[in-house]
Amino acid sequence: MGFAIAIDGPAAAGKGTISKAVAAHFGFAHLDTGLLYRAVGAKVLAGADAIEAAQNLAADDLNDDSLRTGDVAQAASRVAVIAEVRAALVDFQRAFARRSGGAVLDGRDIGTVICPDAEAKLFVTASAEVRAERRFLELQARGADVTREAVLADVKERDARDMERAEAPLKPAQDAVLIDTSNMAIDDAVQAAIAAITAGRES
Ligand code: DC
Repeated sequence: MGFAIAIDGPAAAGKGTISKAVAAHFGFAHLDTGLLYRAVGAKVLAGADAIEAAQNLAADDLNDDSLRTGDVAQAASRVAVIAEVRAALVDFQRAFARRSGGAVLDGRDIGTVICPDAEAKLFVTASAEVRAERRFLELQARGADVTREAVLADVKERDARDMERAEAPLKPAQDAVLIDTSNMAIDDAVQAAIAAITAGRES
């Protein structure tokens, strides 16, 4: 049996960076599960049916830079409320979590629904204002024409939809270690995550 690490949290809290660094540190494979929902959302924006798109998703669909845009993120959050879409993506995520070499999965429901028996669980969060500022700077650096206000409104809208949905809402697992990155440099957040997982492995 492998070692599964579940890393959940809202958008732009730092979980992507932390997950990649944790996977590299332990030599585990990494799956950004948001990409699955983004790939389905992108297909819906292109006219596909959400449930059919989720049931027929292929590995190649995940390797697409256009999945990183704000429109696709919102579309992903909208398809993620559909129970049949979530159900179609469960087996792939669970199989990934149990690969023999160890795995890190980041998302919204990994510690609560996909992998409640994960050996380590983190919930990475930060205030909406801090997350929006990070996302704004990232989008600006990519040359996007956005305002701080619009990005904050977007973050809050997606938070509300992800937390209030009936199916697998965003929330920390009871046994998750909470890491609030609002006042932390990303390197410190990575070190805190590795320390929490290492402590759990040794106890
Ligand atoms: O992590 P992200 O921003 O790429 O995720 C995009 C959307 O996908 C997010 O707003 C909600 C959905 N999502 C989900 O419902 N469950 C997951 N495990 C991962 C993402």
